Amino acid sequence: MLDLTGKKALIMGIANNRSIAWGIAQQLHAAGAELAITYLPDDRGRHEQKVRQLVEPVNPTLYLPCNVQDEEQTDALFSAIADKWGKLDILVHSLAFAGKDELTGDFSNTSAAGFSRALEISAYSLIKLCAKAKPIFADGGSVITMTYLGGVRVIPNYNVMGIAKAALEMNVRYLAAELGPQNVRVNAISAGPIRTLASSAVGGILDMIHHVEEKAPLRRTVTQAEVGNAAAFLCSNLASGITGEVLYVDAGYSIVGM
Ligand SMILES: NC(=O)c1ccc[n+]([C@@H]2O[C@H](COP(=O)([O-])OP(=O)(O)OC[C@H]3O[C@@H](n4cnc5c(N)ncnc54)[C@H](O)[C@@H]3O)[C@@H](O)[C@H]2O)c1
Repeated sequence: MLDLTGKKALIMGIANNRSIAWGIAQQLHAAGAELAITYLPDDRGRHEQKVRQLVEPVNPTLYLPCNVQDEEQTDALFSAIADKWGKLDILVHSLAFAGKDELTGDFSNTSAAGFSRALEISAYSLIKLCAKAKPIFADGGSVITMTYLGGVRVIPNYNVMGIAKAALEMNVRYLAAELGPQNVRVNAISAGPIRTLASSAVGGILDMIHHVEEKAPLRRTVTQAEVGNAAAFLCSNLASGITGEVLYVDAGYSIVGM
């Protein structure tokens, strides 16, 4: 049975009720995990309040700011987890960013600054977070990150985010190899297109969703809850032999050639 009772899980990437990370948080909570949740701080404190209200039903033990580009915040987050729990079992990395200008038009217009920012936030951050989590994965652990088909195939307008996802998927393999002897598993979920804040920045996202609804074997795209269920499985003992993998949760779209 899928049981995460007693597991301590850090969930990063909830912006609102459409966030994939929110779908994951709800499924991990339902399976019995205890949660630490982060939000991306903004100057006016609006994210803090909005996300705090949203996550109340899953009763997070810790609720902390974390911009992954901010070393102090990231250090403070892992110190707070070490102080509170003394260990971590699950790390959910469900975050990415690229400037809107980089997510439409010609890929060759990608700026050096836009490239670095997208790669730092969307791919490098997983390496940094795993390095900080490594000492507190005391009883083994499971890391989940979110990727997309645009990291292995060309998808219109996905542009620099495709490069970031390709790097992220390779990060998963290198991290799985490094952390495996410590019984920490590292996997990615490649989700079908879902309407969220992040995906709305990608030019033509609604057309992408309609295309998937027409062509995917299941004739639809997926929900946050379906991705959450797959994440709960990957974090559980039912997936104890799986690491370094990219699990497609995309209504089968990625298998279709024509
Ligand atoms: N929505 C889709 O169609 C889809 C499909 C496949 C993969 N994904 C991936 O799923 C993940 C979650 O995206 P989502 O679609 O739920 O959108 P979302 O906008 O709800 O989530 C993105 C999150 O990234 C966070 N973030 C951005 N910059 C950050 C930073 N510097 N530090 C910390 N957090 C930061 C945002 O605050 C937000 O919570 C992303 O990696 C995305 O690429 C999304």
